[in-house]
Amino acid sequence: MRTIVITGGTDGIGRALADVHLHRGDAVLIVGQSAEKGERFLDSARELGAGDRAHFVRADLSLIGENIRLFEEVARVLPTVDVLVLGARYHRSVRTETPEGLESNFALFYLSRFLLSHGLAPSLERAATPIVLNVAGPGGTSPIQWDDLQLRRHYVGTGALGHGGRLNDLLGAGFAAVHPDSRIRYILFHPGVVSTSFSGEYDQATAAQVAGLKVTGKTVAQSIGQILPCLDRPPAERLSAFTEGRRIDVDTPYFDRDEAARLHEITEKLLRV
Ligand SMILES: NC(=O)c1ccc[n+]([C@@H]2O[C@H](COP(=O)([O-])OP(=O)(O)OC[C@H]3O[C@@H](n4cnc5c(N)ncnc54)[C@H](OP(=O)(O)O)[C@@H]3O)[C@@H](O)[C@H]2O)c1
Repeated sequence: MRTIVITGGTDGIGRALADVHLHRGDAVLIVGQSAEKGERFLDSARELGAGDRAHFVRADLSLIGENIRLFEEVARVLPTVDVLVLGARYHRSVRTETPEGLESNFALFYLSRFLLSHGLAPSLERAATPIVLNVAGPGGTSPIQWDDLQLRRHYVGTGALGHGGRLNDLLGAGFAAVHPDSRIRYILFHPGVVSTSFSGEYDQATAAQVAGLKVTGKTVAQSIGQILPCLDRPPAERLSAFTEGRRIDVDTPYFDRDEAARLHEITEKLLRV
Protein backbone atom coordinates (compact mmCIF):
# COMPACT_ATOMS: atom_id res chain seq x y z
CA MET A 1 0.00 0.00 0.00
CA ARG A 2 1.30 3.43 -0.94
CA THR A 3 0.23 6.78 0.46
CA ILE A 4 -0.63 9.49 -2.06
CA VAL A 5 -1.24 13.17 -1.35
CA ILE A 6 -2.95 15.02 -4.22
CA THR A 7 -3.50 18.76 -4.42
CA GLY A 8 -6.27 19.53 -6.89
CA GLY A 9 -7.54 16.08 -5.90
CA THR A 10 -11.17 17.19 -5.74
CA ASP A 11 -11.56 17.55 -9.52
CA GLY A 12 -10.22 16.73 -12.97
CA ILE A 13 -6.95 14.84 -13.31
CA GLY A 14 -6.27 14.90 -9.57
CA ARG A 15 -9.63 13.36 -8.65
CA ALA A 16 -9.21 10.63 -11.28
CA LEU A 17 -5.76 9.77 -9.89
CA ALA A 18 -7.26 9.67 -6.39
CA ASP A 19 -9.91 7.18 -7.54
CA VAL A 20 -7.38 4.91 -9.27
CA HIS A 21 -5.18 4.73 -6.18
CA LEU A 22 -8.11 4.17 -3.86
CA HIS A 23 -9.24 1.24 -6.03
CA ARG A 24 -5.70 -0.15 -5.91
CA GLY A 25 -5.78 -0.23 -2.11
CA ASP A 26 -3.62 2.84 -1.46
CA ALA A 27 -4.23 5.53 1.15
CA VAL A 28 -5.20 8.81 -0.51
CA LEU A 29 -5.35 12.32 0.88
CA ILE A 30 -6.86 14.92 -1.42
CA VAL A 31 -6.78 18.69 -1.06
CA GLY A 32 -9.15 21.26 -2.54
CA GLN A 33 -11.23 24.26 -1.64
CA SER A 34 -14.67 22.73 -2.19
CA ALA A 35 -16.10 20.96 0.87
CA GLU A 36 -18.85 19.51 -1.33
CA LYS A 37 -16.39 17.88 -3.76
CA GLY A 38 -14.30 16.63 -0.84
CA GLU A 39 -17.37 15.03 0.75
CA ARG A 40 -18.26 13.40 -2.59
CA PHE A 41 -14.82 11.77 -2.63
CA LEU A 42 -15.18 10.56 0.95
CA ASP A 43 -18.68 9.19 0.18
CA SER A 44 -17.40 7.26 -2.83
CA ALA A 45 -14.54 5.88 -0.70
CA ARG A 46 -17.02 4.70 1.95
CA GLU A 47 -19.13 3.02 -0.76
CA LEU A 48 -15.97 1.20 -1.85
CA GLY A 49 -15.31 0.13 1.74
CA ALA A 50 -12.18 2.30 1.73
CA GLY A 51 -13.33 5.07 4.07
CA ASP A 52 -10.39 4.48 6.42
CA ARG A 53 -7.93 5.03 3.56
CA ALA A 54 -9.46 8.28 2.28
CA HIS A 55 -8.77 11.74 3.65
CA PHE A 56 -9.81 15.22 2.57
CA VAL A 57 -8.22 18.48 3.68
CA ARG A 58 -9.99 21.66 2.72
CA ALA A 59 -7.46 24.40 2.09
CA ASP A 60 -6.94 27.50 0.01
CA LEU A 61 -3.45 26.78 -1.24
CA SER A 62 -3.00 30.27 -2.63
CA LEU A 63 -2.33 31.29 1.00
CA ILE A 64 1.09 30.60 2.53
CA GLY A 65 -0.38 29.79 5.97
CA GLU A 66 -2.73 27.21 4.46
CA ASN A 67 0.19 25.36 2.85
CA ILE A 68 2.01 25.27 6.17
CA ARG A 69 -1.17 24.03 7.88
CA LEU A 70 -1.46 21.33 5.19
CA PHE A 71 2.02 19.90 5.57
CA GLU A 72 1.65 19.98 9.37
CA GLU A 73 -1.71 18.16 9.03
CA VAL A 74 -0.21 15.60 6.61
CA ALA A 75 2.69 14.95 8.99
CA ARG A 76 0.12 14.44 11.78
CA VAL A 77 -2.16 11.93 9.99
CA LEU A 78 0.23 10.13 7.61
CA PRO A 79 3.49 8.62 8.85
CA THR A 80 4.89 8.41 5.30
CA VAL A 81 4.09 9.97 1.95
CA ASP A 82 5.09 7.87 -1.08
CA VAL A 83 3.76 10.19 -3.76
CA LEU A 84 2.98 13.90 -3.74
CA VAL A 85 0.93 15.00 -6.74
CA LEU A 86 0.81 18.77 -7.29
CA GLY A 87 -2.24 19.56 -9.41
CA ALA A 88 -4.10 22.58 -8.02
CA ARG A 89 -4.58 25.52 -10.36
CA TYR A 90 -7.11 28.26 -10.95
CA HIS A 91 -7.07 30.44 -14.05
CA ARG A 92 -7.85 34.14 -13.79
CA SER A 93 -8.21 36.34 -16.84
CA VAL A 94 -7.90 39.42 -14.63
CA ARG A 95 -4.84 39.86 -12.42
CA THR A 96 -5.90 39.35 -8.80
CA GLU A 97 -3.95 39.47 -5.56
CA THR A 98 -4.47 37.17 -2.59
CA PRO A 99 -5.15 38.68 0.87
CA GLU A 100 -1.39 38.22 1.40
CA GLY A 101 -0.71 40.56 -1.51
CA LEU A 102 0.62 37.95 -3.95
CA GLU A 103 -0.53 37.51 -7.54
CA SER A 104 -2.96 34.61 -7.24
CA ASN A 105 -1.59 32.40 -10.02
CA PHE A 106 1.99 32.87 -8.79
CA ALA A 107 0.78 32.01 -5.27
CA LEU A 108 -1.21 28.88 -6.18
CA PHE A 109 0.55 27.50 -9.22
CA TYR A 110 4.14 28.16 -8.12
CA LEU A 111 4.57 29.21 -4.48
CA SER A 112 2.25 26.52 -3.05
CA ARG A 113 4.17 23.87 -5.02
CA PHE A 114 7.46 25.27 -3.73
CA LEU A 115 6.20 25.14 -0.13
CA LEU A 116 4.72 21.65 -0.41
CA SER A 117 7.64 20.12 -2.33
CA HIS A 118 10.12 21.24 0.30
CA GLY A 119 7.75 21.09 3.30
CA LEU A 120 6.69 17.49 2.67
CA ALA A 121 10.20 16.27 1.84
CA PRO A 122 10.72 14.78 5.36
CA SER A 123 7.50 12.70 5.01
CA LEU A 124 8.54 11.61 1.50
CA GLU A 125 12.03 10.60 2.62
CA ARG A 126 10.50 7.80 4.73
CA ALA A 127 9.06 6.09 1.61
CA ALA A 128 10.82 3.34 -0.36
CA THR A 129 10.57 5.17 -3.70
CA PRO A 130 9.40 8.71 -3.02
CA ILE A 131 8.01 10.72 -5.91
CA VAL A 132 6.88 14.30 -6.45
CA LEU A 133 4.73 14.58 -9.56
CA ASN A 134 4.34 18.24 -10.48
CA VAL A 135 1.57 18.42 -13.11
CA ALA A 136 2.29 21.69 -14.85
CA GLY A 137 3.77 22.50 -18.27
CA PRO A 138 7.39 21.39 -18.81
CA GLY A 139 8.57 22.16 -22.29
CA GLY A 140 7.34 25.76 -22.18
CA THR A 141 9.76 28.32 -23.55
CA SER A 142 8.32 31.67 -22.48
CA PRO A 143 10.99 33.84 -20.87
CA ILE A 144 11.03 34.26 -17.10
CA GLN A 145 10.15 37.81 -16.08
CA TRP A 146 12.91 38.07 -13.49
CA ASP A 147 12.19 41.69 -12.63
CA ASP A 148 8.43 41.13 -12.49
CA LEU A 149 7.76 37.56 -11.34
CA GLN A 150 4.21 38.44 -10.29
CA LEU A 151 3.44 40.07 -13.63
CA ARG A 152 2.42 43.49 -12.31
CA ARG A 153 3.31 45.27 -15.54
CA HIS A 154 1.82 42.93 -18.12
CA TYR A 155 -0.68 40.26 -17.12
CA VAL A 156 -2.55 37.91 -19.44
CA GLY A 157 -4.26 34.91 -17.78
CA THR A 158 -3.01 32.24 -20.17
CA GLY A 159 0.45 33.83 -20.18
CA ALA A 160 0.48 33.73 -16.37
CA LEU A 161 -0.09 29.96 -16.48
CA GLY A 162 2.73 29.58 -19.02
CA HIS A 163 5.00 31.69 -16.83
CA GLY A 164 4.03 29.63 -13.77
CA GLY A 165 4.92 26.49 -15.73
CA ARG A 166 8.42 27.85 -16.31
CA LEU A 167 8.80 28.62 -12.59
CA ASN A 168 7.77 25.04 -11.80
CA ASP A 169 10.41 23.74 -14.22
CA LEU A 170 13.03 25.65 -12.24
CA LEU A 171 11.52 24.42 -8.97
CA GLY A 172 12.07 20.85 -10.19
CA ALA A 173 15.53 21.66 -11.49
CA GLY A 174 16.55 23.20 -8.16
CA PHE A 175 15.02 20.57 -5.89
CA ALA A 176 17.97 18.17 -6.02
CA ALA A 177 20.44 20.91 -5.10
CA VAL A 178 18.42 21.84 -2.01
CA HIS A 179 18.11 18.16 -0.98
CA PRO A 180 21.47 16.74 -2.12
CA ASP A 181 21.17 13.38 -0.33
CA SER A 182 17.48 12.88 -1.08
CA ARG A 183 16.03 9.82 -2.82
CA ILE A 184 13.02 11.82 -4.03
CA ARG A 185 12.42 11.62 -7.77
CA TYR A 186 10.99 14.88 -9.04
CA ILE A 187 8.83 14.44 -12.14
CA LEU A 188 7.45 17.36 -14.14
CA PHE A 189 4.47 16.37 -16.26
CA HIS A 190 2.60 18.26 -18.99
CA PRO A 191 -0.71 16.48 -19.65
CA GLY A 192 -1.51 18.36 -22.89
CA VAL A 193 -5.09 19.54 -23.32
CA VAL A 194 -7.42 17.51 -21.12
CA SER A 195 -11.17 18.00 -20.93
CA THR A 196 -11.64 18.93 -17.27
CA SER A 197 -13.60 21.64 -15.49
CA PHE A 198 -10.73 24.12 -16.22
CA SER A 199 -11.46 25.80 -12.91
CA GLY A 200 -11.14 29.54 -13.05
CA GLU A 201 -12.67 32.89 -13.94
CA TYR A 202 -12.54 33.63 -17.65
CA ASP A 203 -13.23 36.65 -19.81
CA GLN A 204 -15.57 36.08 -22.73
CA ALA A 205 -12.90 35.36 -25.33
CA THR A 206 -11.01 32.92 -23.12
CA ALA A 207 -14.25 31.25 -22.01
CA ALA A 208 -15.02 30.55 -25.68
CA GLN A 209 -11.54 29.06 -26.19
CA VAL A 210 -11.92 26.90 -23.09
CA ALA A 211 -15.32 25.65 -24.29
CA GLY A 212 -13.54 24.51 -27.47
CA LEU A 213 -10.74 22.83 -25.51
CA LYS A 214 -13.30 20.89 -23.48
CA VAL A 215 -14.59 19.45 -26.76
CA THR A 216 -11.24 18.71 -28.42
CA GLY A 217 -9.16 17.80 -25.34
CA LYS A 218 -8.32 14.23 -24.42
CA THR A 219 -10.43 12.58 -21.75
CA VAL A 220 -9.30 12.50 -18.15
CA ALA A 221 -9.06 8.69 -18.44
CA GLN A 222 -6.68 9.04 -21.42
CA SER A 223 -4.57 11.51 -19.47
CA ILE A 224 -4.39 9.21 -16.45
CA GLY A 225 -3.23 6.44 -18.78
CA GLN A 226 -0.23 8.64 -19.66
CA ILE A 227 0.53 9.67 -16.08
CA LEU A 228 0.31 6.33 -14.26
CA PRO A 229 3.44 4.75 -15.83
CA CYS A 230 5.47 7.63 -14.35
CA LEU A 231 4.15 6.84 -10.88
CA ASP A 232 4.41 3.06 -11.26
CA ARG A 233 7.84 3.01 -12.92
CA PRO A 234 9.45 6.37 -12.15
CA PRO A 235 12.69 7.19 -13.97
CA ALA A 236 15.80 6.56 -11.87
CA GLU A 237 17.01 10.15 -12.37
CA ARG A 238 16.30 12.69 -9.66
CA LEU A 239 14.68 15.01 -12.22
CA SER A 240 12.66 14.01 -15.24
CA ALA A 241 10.03 15.65 -17.42
CA PHE A 242 7.28 14.40 -19.67
CA THR A 243 4.88 15.86 -22.19
CA GLU A 244 1.78 13.70 -22.66
CA GLY A 245 3.71 10.60 -21.56
CA ARG A 246 6.78 11.27 -23.76
CA ARG A 247 10.04 11.88 -21.92
CA ILE A 248 11.61 15.26 -22.72
CA ASP A 249 15.18 16.42 -22.24
CA VAL A 250 15.90 18.30 -19.01
CA ASP A 251 19.47 19.03 -20.03
CA THR A 252 18.46 22.30 -21.68
CA PRO A 253 18.62 25.98 -20.66
CA TYR A 254 14.95 25.80 -19.56
CA PHE A 255 16.00 23.67 -16.57
CA ASP A 256 19.18 25.61 -15.87
CA ARG A 257 20.55 24.88 -12.37
CA ASP A 258 21.91 28.43 -11.87
CA GLU A 259 18.55 29.96 -12.78
CA ALA A 260 16.89 27.44 -10.47
CA ALA A 261 19.18 28.53 -7.63
CA ARG A 262 18.39 32.16 -8.39
CA LEU A 263 14.64 31.52 -8.23
CA HIS A 264 15.03 29.52 -5.02
CA GLU A 265 16.86 32.41 -3.38
CA ILE A 266 14.27 34.97 -4.51
CA THR A 267 11.45 32.73 -3.27
CA GLU A 268 13.05 32.17 0.14
CA LYS A 269 13.55 35.91 0.49
CA LEU A 270 9.90 36.54 -0.40
CA LEU A 271 8.79 34.00 2.22
CA ARG A 272 10.96 35.61 4.91
CA VAL A 273 9.23 39.02 4.57
N1 LIG B 1 -6.64 20.36 -18.18
C1 LIG B 1 -5.66 20.71 -18.99
O1 LIG B 1 -5.86 20.82 -20.22
C2 LIG B 1 -4.29 20.97 -18.47
C3 LIG B 1 -3.29 21.38 -19.39
C4 LIG B 1 -2.01 21.62 -18.90
C5 LIG B 1 -1.73 21.44 -17.55
N2 LIG B 1 -2.73 21.04 -16.71
C6 LIG B 1 -2.39 20.90 -15.29
O2 LIG B 1 -2.98 19.73 -14.75
C7 LIG B 1 -3.34 19.98 -13.37
C8 LIG B 1 -4.77 19.55 -13.14
O3 LIG B 1 -5.58 20.29 -14.02
P1 LIG B 1 -7.13 19.99 -14.19
O4 LIG B 1 -7.52 20.57 -15.50
O5 LIG B 1 -7.38 18.56 -13.90
O6 LIG B 1 -7.74 20.89 -13.02
P2 LIG B 1 -9.27 21.29 -12.73
O7 LIG B 1 -10.19 20.20 -13.17
O8 LIG B 1 -9.49 22.67 -13.23
O9 LIG B 1 -9.26 21.29 -11.13
C9 LIG B 1 -8.49 22.21 -10.44
C10 LIG B 1 -8.23 21.70 -9.05
O10 LIG B 1 -7.50 22.72 -8.34
C11 LIG B 1 -8.15 22.94 -7.08
N3 LIG B 1 -7.97 24.33 -6.67
C12 LIG B 1 -8.26 25.46 -7.37
N4 LIG B 1 -7.98 26.55 -6.64
C13 LIG B 1 -7.50 26.09 -5.44
C14 LIG B 1 -7.04 26.73 -4.27
N5 LIG B 1 -7.00 28.08 -4.15
N6 LIG B 1 -6.64 25.96 -3.23
C15 LIG B 1 -6.68 24.61 -3.31
N7 LIG B 1 -7.08 23.95 -4.40
C16 LIG B 1 -7.51 24.69 -5.45
C17 LIG B 1 -9.61 22.63 -7.35
O11 LIG B 1 -10.22 22.30 -6.12
P3 LIG B 1 -11.67 22.89 -5.66
O12 LIG B 1 -12.54 22.93 -6.88
O13 LIG B 1 -12.08 21.92 -4.61
O14 LIG B 1 -11.34 24.23 -5.11
C18 LIG B 1 -9.50 21.43 -8.26
O15 LIG B 1 -9.34 20.26 -7.51
C19 LIG B 1 -3.11 21.47 -13.11
O16 LIG B 1 -1.90 21.63 -12.42
C20 LIG B 1 -2.97 22.07 -14.48
O17 LIG B 1 -2.09 23.16 -14.51
C21 LIG B 1 -3.99 20.79 -17.14
